[in-house]
Amino acid sequence: MSIKIAPSILSADFSQLGQQVAEVEKGGAEYLHIDVMDGHFVPNITIGSLVVASLRPKSKMFFDVHLMIESPDLYISDFVQAGADLITVHQEATKHLHRTISFIKEKGVKAGVSINPATPWQSLEYVLPMVDLVLVMSVNPGFGGQQFISSSLSKIKALAQYRKEHQLDFEIQVDGGINRTNAPLVVQAGADVLVAGSAIFGAKDIQQEVVALRKQGEA
Ligand code: DX5
Ligand code: ZN
Repeated sequence: MSIKIAPSILSADFSQLGQQVAEVEKGGAEYLHIDVMDGHFVPNITIGSLVVASLRPKSKMFFDVHLMIESPDLYISDFVQAGADLITVHQEATKHLHRTISFIKEKGVKAGVSINPATPWQSLEYVLPMVDLVLVMSVNPGFGGQQFISSSLSKIKALAQYRKEHQLDFEIQVDGGINRTNAPLVVQAGADVLVAGSAIFGAKDIQQEVVALRKQGEA
C-alpha cells in the first residue's frame, strides 16, 4: 500500500524555510502542506500567498494549501496564482460548499474539503463526487504539536468504505498529531496522504524522518 507524505511547514523553522523545504523534498515527500490561518476561523495567524509564491520556484513538490480561513472564496485566486496545486477549504467555513469547490476547479487546480473532529463526514456526501481530496482533521485546527484524536479513525474508515461503494476516487488525507506510532493505524483505516508537522520538522534529521514515517505507514 503506497502512501503520500505531506510535511506541514507550520512546524518548520521559518528563518530557514527554503532549506527545510529542500530537506523534506530530498526525503521523498510528495506534497508540501501549507497551513493558512486567519485568526478568525482558527485562533492563530500563519502565512499567506506571498510565502507560497516565494517557495514555488524552489520546489517541485505538489503544493497542498490548507485554508483555515473564513470566506475562502476571496483568497482562492491569490493562492492559485501563487502556485498552489490543491486548495482545501473547510466545510465549516464555507457557506456554499458546492459553489466554492466548483470555483477552485474552474481555476484549474485540485479541490479538497476538510472537516473538523466534531463534524460528521456525512455532511460531505453531496460533494464527494466532485472533490479530489477529503481532509480529515485529527486535531482541532489552529496549532501544530497537538495530540491525535482517535475518533478520526472511524471517520477515515467510513469515508474509505463510501468511496469504495460508490466507486469514487478522492484521496483521504489525515492531519493532526500524526507520527510513526499512529501512522500504520491511519493507513489501515484508509488514509492515503499523511500530513505531519512537528513529527517531521521537530526531528533531528528532517529528511530521514520523512523516510521513516513512510516506512511505518506502509508497514
Ligand atoms: C493544524 C494544521 C496541521 C498541523 C499539523 O491546524 O492544520 O497541518 O500543522 O501539525 P502536527 O503534525 O504537529 O499536528
Ligand atoms: Zn493542515
